[in-house]
Amino acid sequence: MNQDQLKQAVAQAAVDYILPRLERNTIVGVGTGSTANYFIDSLAEHKGLFDGAVASSEASAERLRQHGIPVYDLNAVDRLAVYVDGADESNAQLHLIKGGGAALTREKIVAACSDEFVCIADQSKWVETLGKFPLPVEVIPMARAHVARELVKLGGDPVHRQGCTTDNGNQILDVFGMQIHDAIALETAINQIVGVVANGLFALRAADVLLLGTSTGVQTLRAMQA
Ligand code: A5P
Repeated sequence: MNQDQLKQAVAQAAVDYILPRLERNTIVGVGTGSTANYFIDSLAEHKGLFDGAVASSEASAERLRQHGIPVYDLNAVDRLAVYVDGADESNAQLHLIKGGGAALTREKIVAACSDEFVCIADQSKWVETLGKFPLPVEVIPMARAHVARELVKLGGDPVHRQGCTTDNGNQILDVFGMQIHDAIALETAINQIVGVVANGLFALRAADVLLLGTSTGVQTLRAMQA
């Protein structure tokens, strides 16, 4: 199977995973990216079984609406039972790097409001050590240079993602050269930099389940202790 077929397989596996829990009043948290898009398309086949969705980006909200799935403002709903989203990297603790699609802040907010975070990814995203994928950091535009200097002090090599404005009107720094051995500590440290809106480490709120698409099938993984 090629990468797209693996993404489709994990998207379908995520639908199968959440299907028994869908009720008429269920609102599903939906992520962003190409794997999440496959999930939206598969979920749409069951749209009569649940109420609607909260989306982590304008792009996903639009795709959901095109399928006739109602999209709710997060402020209008209570907690979400489940959030399904892709990732750029995952380690064995299900600490993630996300934000390749620049939606990291809203993804983090929706994940924080969800009882269960189901991550869906093809096997290329599985890593022993996080950091080969450049870590996205969303910044308030006027703080970009300041945040970049602080990220250098943390050992990174930040690069302004050209031509990218987030759904929140902010900018992205992609931080290269990080070998992330303590994701919780680094996530916390970056959060302390004035001007940072959010960073793409999902370790303080990691995934609960990873559905990993491999050439031998979809594996269901739960976090291993550090
Ligand atoms: C979006 O900002 C990201 O967090 C995505 O979830 C991540 O980049 C995975 O994207 P793909 O599913 O397109 O690989």
